Amino acid sequence: MTRCLFPGTIKTIMLLHFCSMPLPVQNISSSCSEPLDPQLLKDCHPEPGVSEAKCLARNCCWSPSKTPGTPWCFENTNECSTVAVSERIDCYPERGANESTCKKRGCHWCVSKVPNAPFCFFSKDEATLDCTRKYPVLQRIDCHPLPGVSRETCEAKGCMWCSAVIPNVPQCFFPEDGPYGYSLNARPEKTARGLRVILNKPDTISLFGNDISPIAMDLEFHAKDRLRFKIYDPNDKRFEVPLIIDSPSKAAVNPDYNVEFLNESSLHFRIIRKVTGTVLWDTSLGGLVFSSQFIQMMTTVPSTSIYGFGEHEHPSFKHDMNFVKYGMFSRDQPPKEFSNLYGVHPFYLCIENDFNAHGVLLLNSNAQDITLNPLPSLTFRTIGGILDFYMFFGPTPENVVQQYTEAIGRPFLPPYWSLGFHLGRWGYNTIDVLKNTIERLKQYDIPHDVQYSDIDSMERHLDFTYDKINFLGLPEYIKQLKRDGMHFVIILNPFLTKDEPRGTYKPFELGQEMGIWVNNSDGITPALGKAWPPGDSVYADFTNPETALWWTQMCTEFKHVLDYDGIWINMNEPSNFRSGQQPGCTRSHLNYPPFVPEITGGILAEKTLCPDSKTYLGDHYDTHSLFGWSQGICTFYAYQNATKKRAFVLSRSTFVGSGQYTGHWLGDNFSRWRDMHMSIIGILEFNLFGIPYTGADICGFNGETAYELCLRWMQLGAFYPFSRNYNTYGHKEQDPGVFGEEFATISRSILKIRYSLLPYLYTLFYYSHVSGNTVVRGLMHEFPSDPQTHGIDKAFLWGPALMIAPVLEEGARSLNVYFPEATWFTLYTGDKIPFSWLKKFVDIPAPLEIIPLFVRGGHILPMQAPARTTALSRQNPFGLLIVLDEQGEAYGSLFWDDGDSIDTVEDEAYFFVDYKFSNKELRTTIIKNGYSGIANQTYDTVEILGLTKKPNTISVNGKVILSDRIQYHPNMKVNLWITEPLSQELTISFS
Ligand code: NOJ
Repeated sequence: MTRCLFPGTIKTIMLLHFCSMPLPVQNISSSCSEPLDPQLLKDCHPEPGVSEAKCLARNCCWSPSKTPGTPWCFENTNECSTVAVSERIDCYPERGANESTCKKRGCHWCVSKVPNAPFCFFSKDEATLDCTRKYPVLQRIDCHPLPGVSRETCEAKGCMWCSAVIPNVPQCFFPEDGPYGYSLNARPEKTARGLRVILNKPDTISLFGNDISPIAMDLEFHAKDRLRFKIYDPNDKRFEVPLIIDSPSKAAVNPDYNVEFLNESSLHFRIIRKVTGTVLWDTSLGGLVFSSQFIQMMTTVPSTSIYGFGEHEHPSFKHDMNFVKYGMFSRDQPPKEFSNLYGVHPFYLCIENDFNAHGVLLLNSNAQDITLNPLPSLTFRTIGGILDFYMFFGPTPENVVQQYTEAIGRPFLPPYWSLGFHLGRWGYNTIDVLKNTIERLKQYDIPHDVQYSDIDSMERHLDFTYDKINFLGLPEYIKQLKRDGMHFVIILNPFLTKDEPRGTYKPFELGQEMGIWVNNSDGITPALGKAWPPGDSVYADFTNPETALWWTQMCTEFKHVLDYDGIWINMNEPSNFRSGQQPGCTRSHLNYPPFVPEITGGILAEKTLCPDSKTYLGDHYDTHSLFGWSQGICTFYAYQNATKKRAFVLSRSTFVGSGQYTGHWLGDNFSRWRDMHMSIIGILEFNLFGIPYTGADICGFNGETAYELCLRWMQLGAFYPFSRNYNTYGHKEQDPGVFGEEFATISRSILKIRYSLLPYLYTLFYYSHVSGNTVVRGLMHEFPSDPQTHGIDKAFLWGPALMIAPVLEEGARSLNVYFPEATWFTLYTGDKIPFSWLKKFVDIPAPLEIIPLFVRGGHILPMQAPARTTALSRQNPFGLLIVLDEQGEAYGSLFWDDGDSIDTVEDEAYFFVDYKFSNKELRTTIIKNGYSGIANQTYDTVEILGLTKKPNTISVNGKVILSDRIQYHPNMKVNLWITEPLSQELTISFS
C-alpha cells in the first residue's frame, strides 16, 4: 500500500495500488516479454520492412498484433528488471509517471505486469527501505540545509536521516512531531484588519540558533481578492521592504477566501477559496523556522501549474516541480539556468486544478530561495527580514496580475516612440561607425526609432561625459537624429570613480560633498569598489533622499550636454568587479551568515559590495536587491525633471514594484537559438511581475550571431514589447542593415507589421497602466481551462487577440502550432484556421521570410500605416482589423494621446474610443475626447475577417460605399477604403 497525495486536496488518500502504475495491463502474446499495455511498448524497429528475423537480430521482442499502432517488434522490458518487484520502492506515488518524468526524478523506470508493482522506483541499495516508506520523499522538509550534511550531524540536531538519491531531496529532515514547531498560545484574536496569532517555540535551538519566540502572525483581509499574512517579531522590528502597499483600516467584508486554523500545537493554517473549497495554502507539513538569519516556511499548493519567481533563466514557463530550487538575490549574472540573475521577484501564479488562478508574493528582499516540490508544495527560505505574504485570488490569471499590480504599483505608460525599433551596441567605438550603422538602416528604409550608445562613447567610462575625440560631434549628431524623428538613449552606471584630479569631475565631487555614497560598515567612509571607470569607484545610495537631488541635478545638467531622450541604468545590482569593497569583507554574521541560500557563487559579496555596508535604509545585507529598484525610482523622477517629458528608463536590476518606473531587458544573453526560446519565457514572466515593457537583446548580446539566427530573432523581436537589437564589444556588427538585401527586406517587412500594430500595442500598455493587464501573455493566460496550454511557452499572445508563433530552430521552415479553442485567422492572408485544427498541434509553413501570426475572433485591432519612425507613422491614417468570432461579434478599443507628455491619463489629456461589431454593424463610441491632436486623424482602411456571407451593400454612416472602394477576397476577407475622422463616431453596416 502506498500513500498518494493528490493535488487540490490535502487529504492523504490510501490507495490499493501504486500511483506510478499506469493504465491497466492487457494481454499481448510475446515471445520474450511479459504482457504489457500496448501503449507502453517501445517500438524497436520504427522504419519500414520489419520482420521477425530483423527484430530478433536487434535483440528485441517479436509479437505480431492486430491492434493498430501496436509495434510488432518492441524492446524487451525484462531487460530493465534487475530490481525485483518486491525490492522496489515507489518513487512516483502521484499520478503522471512515465519514463521521462520518472528519470527526471533520478529513479529507475521499468514496466511490469506484476499487480501493484511500481514502474518508477528506487532500488534497495539506494535507500533504506524502511525509512523511505515511513518518510516519503515528497513530505520531507529539509532540517539541515548545509553542504556536507551527514547522518551524524543531522541526528545531532534532533532531525531524521534517510538517504535519498534524488537531487535536492532532503536526506536530513524534520521529524513529524519534531521540536521545532511553533504553537499557538491562544485562539486567533480578532483585529480591525483581520486576525492575529501569537506563536511560541519550545525551548529548543533550531539549526542556526538565534530563534525568535514569540513571533506574531497578522492576517489582514485587505480586499475581497487580497489577503496579507505577515509573520514577524512583535518585540523587535526587523527589516521590512519599504514598498508601500495600501492596507485598508478595516477587514474586507465577505472576502473570496476563508482562513482556518486546524491545530493549536503547531502553526497549521489553510487558506481556502470559498467558492470551490480549493485549499490554496496549507502549512500542515510544518517546517516553520523563524530565527535571526534563517526563516523558512512551507506550504502545499493546489496544482503543479506554477509560474513566476525571478529573475532566472527558467527552462520552461510552467515550472518543473521535481525538487527544483531557485535562488533570488540581485546579481550581475548573464542568463544561465539555475543562476540568480539581475532582479528579484518572489511572486508566483498558480492555475488551480479547476482552472481558477491565484498569485502569491513574498515581500522580502533578503537573499532567499524557493524549492518547488512535486507533492506539490513550495519551500520558502530567506535569511532576513520577515515573512510578508500577499495572496491575490484572481480568479483568472489576468485578474491575478491586475490585483498584484494594484498592490505593488501599476506599470508606467511608455512613451509612444519607445514602442518603435531600438538599436545599439557596446563598441561602436567611433561616431563614424555609429553614423554608418544608422545610415544603412535608413538606406534600406528599415523602421528605426531609437539609438543607443554604450560606455565606449563616454570619456574613460565616466558617467555624465562623452568622448570628445572618438565621438566628436555627438551632441550635434543627436540633435540631427531628433530632427529626423529619432530618439537617443544614454547609459548610466551607478558607480563613479573617486580618482579623477580634484576639480575636474563634478558628479563625484558634488556627491562626496552631499555624502550620498554607500558606506562601509562604519557608516561614514564610502565603500570602494572597482568597475568600468579608472581607479576605485564609490556607489550612489539611491535609498537616500539626498541622492535623488544629486542625481536629478546631474541628469538635468547632462541633458544640456547630450540631448538624450531616455536613460538606461545598468550594472545596478550593484555590480562590482571585486568580491566586496576594499580591503574585503570582515568575518561577520552579515558578511558570512550561517546559511546562504542557493545563490550562484555561494557568497553574498560576490561581484558586489559587502553585506555589512551601510545604506540610508539599512544594511546592504537587507537592501542589496533593492538597489536597482531605488535607482529606478530616482531616475524616473530625475528624467521627468530634466526633460519635462514622459520618462523612459530601462533598468537591469529590478524588484517588486519596479514596473511603475522602469522597463527591463533580459540582460547579457547569448547569440544562440535556445536563448530565443528563453527570451519568450523571460518576457512572459516579467509580464506577471508587472513589468510588461520587457525585451531581450535581439540577435543575442554575447557571442557571434549568424545570419539565419539573427533573421529569425528579428522576426521574434519585432514582437517584444521592448524591441532592441544589441550586441557586445568586439563582435561583428549585427544590425538589420549589415547582412544585405534579403535580410534587410525581411526585417523591414516584419518591423512594418509591428509598426502597423503599434496603436493596438499602445492600447494594451494603456490597459496595463490603468488596470494592470499583461501586454504579452501566455496561451494559458487566455485559455486556463485548456490544460494543454499550461505548458506552452514557444508561442505567445499580444493581449487577447494576436498569437505570435516564432521559429526557434535553425533550418526549420515549418512550425508546430497549438490552436486553443477559438476562432483564429492567419494575419497575413485572413484565411480561417479550420475547426479540425482546434485543440491540436498543427504543422504550419514558416518559410524564412515569415513568422506565423494569427488573430483571434472576437477582437478589433486598431492599426496605423507604418513608417520609418513613429514620429512619421503617428501622422498616418488609422485602420481597423475586425476579426469576428462565431457569433459574428468583435470588440476593441484605441487609446491615443500625444505619446510623450507626463501623466496624460491622470490629466485626462487623451482620446479613447470603443469599437463594437455586432448584428453586421461596426459602431465606434468615443469615451474620452481629451486630446486635441486627434482632430486631424482619419480612418482609411477597414479589414474584416470572418463574415459568413458576402454583404450586398456596405455603408458608412448610412452612405453606401462605392464598389471600387471595396475588395472581396475568396476567403471572405473584405477590405474597405474610407476617409472618416477619428474624432467622430462611425457606423459601418454590412447588409
Ligand atoms: C553590461 C550590460 O549588461 C551590457 O548591456 C552593456 O553593454 C555592458 N555592461 C557595457 O556597458
